[in-house]
Amino acid sequence: MNLRDTLCIKDGRLNIGGCDCVELAKKYGTPLYVLDEEYVRQVMRAYLEGLSDYGKYAVAYASKALSCLALYNIVKEEGLWTDVVSGGELYATQKAGIDPKHIVMHGNNKTPKEMKEGVETGVGHIVVDGIDEIDRLDKIAGEVGKKATVLIRVNPLVEAHTHAAVQTARPDSKFGVIIGEEATNAIKTILTKENLIFDGLHCHIGSQIFDYSAFELAVDTMVEFIASLNKQGIKVNTLNMGGGFGIYYSGDDPLFTPMRYAHTVRNLALLLEKSISKHGIEKPFLIIEPGRSIVGEAGITLYTVGTIKEIKGIRKYVAIDGGMFENPRYALYQSKYTAINASRADKPFVQSVAVCGKCCESGDMIGIDIPLQDTQVGDTLAVFSTGAYNYSMASNYNMNAVPPMVIVKDGKSDYIVKPQTYDDLIRNNALPEWFKG
Ligand SMILES: Cc1ncc(COP(=O)(O)O)c(C=O)c1O
Repeated sequence: MNLRDTLCIKDGRLNIGGCDCVELAKKYGTPLYVLDEEYVRQVMRAYLEGLSDYGKYAVAYASKALSCLALYNIVKEEGLWTDVVSGGELYATQKAGIDPKHIVMHGNNKTPKEMKEGVETGVGHIVVDGIDEIDRLDKIAGEVGKKATVLIRVNPLVEAHTHAAVQTARPDSKFGVIIGEEATNAIKTILTKENLIFDGLHCHIGSQIFDYSAFELAVDTMVEFIASLNKQGIKVNTLNMGGGFGIYYSGDDPLFTPMRYAHTVRNLALLLEKSISKHGIEKPFLIIEPGRSIVGEAGITLYTVGTIKEIKGIRKYVAIDGGMFENPRYALYQSKYTAINASRADKPFVQSVAVCGKCCESGDMIGIDIPLQDTQVGDTLAVFSTGAYNYSMASNYNMNAVPPMVIVKDGKSDYIVKPQTYDDLIRNNALPEWFKG
């Protein structure tokens, strides 16, 4: 289990950020997302610390992992940048007062509206994802009357050892242009455009990566490519290496600490420096974009156990009051999770159960083989490492409300996302005139 100072067992119950989880469940109801502010800040500081010796760098928090105003406030306070992949995420960053120059805008199919919003807002970098985006962005920037500073997303063809759905640098990928001739031609086209300023390269090889040799290879491959561009007279100021640093979900994964992330990116920067001198290029401004590792382990989800059903000789189902509408990751990728009975947290783990949700889908599971203590109807169940890609992927499937989220710190708790009501669920429903007759 990935327990720590701010996620521990106290008086026989699970405690996060100095708050008793059973009390949190009582106060706010379940399902409930809980975010440990201290851990979020520790990981952010670790990344900054790890890159400090490199000197020219930014850590851009990847919004897609978890996007809400409170988090953007922390991003701002800790001196991070942020990336966005939609007009909605961009809007939220601006509501939170993030400096537009500290925003990297992604998307393999940014709509013209989103491109216009990015240019109007003056985001620091728009990442061109494909050849046909170049003309479109140039035209839009011209109409807005502002130049757009761009990176190009390059697929370095470096395979990361992770789930196929989160690998992004295979040849068969919807993202980016292939390193080499295709990317070079795209850059040459960008350089001919009146309203685009070419600033550098971006790559992102995948997510939930533990085998850092893939990052090392990606760094060297990108630097070699920069050297080949330099030889053709093309200057590259910025190298954005994306995100993808793994977290602990289950016993299959290594354990992480903020220090370990600092160490990982320090090594990455050292390798970059080595590669820079090997290929003889000018030191680029380095950007990394971690998402999951900043908020993933900081988040847990609390549930109330409802039905318990045992099928003799097959398995025991422990049903919780959440499911794929608030955590779709098992349904999407058969992701693994660790859980604890927060009400009996100091008791031994005596069984392996299927934790299932309340949606009308057989695949609506949190996990099928989760070790657990003796568990009774009404207990509070906590699932760990749900801070990333849970709330941000939640839906109203079966007209379930997306759960609220509270942030905890030093024994205090408060909402950062308020509960949805039944009225919220039908707020945007409409009846055409001819239904009203
Ligand atoms: C372009 C880009 N940057 C950063 C990230 C963040 O990755 P992670 O949350 O694994 O750190 C992603 C995730 O898909 C991404 O696509």
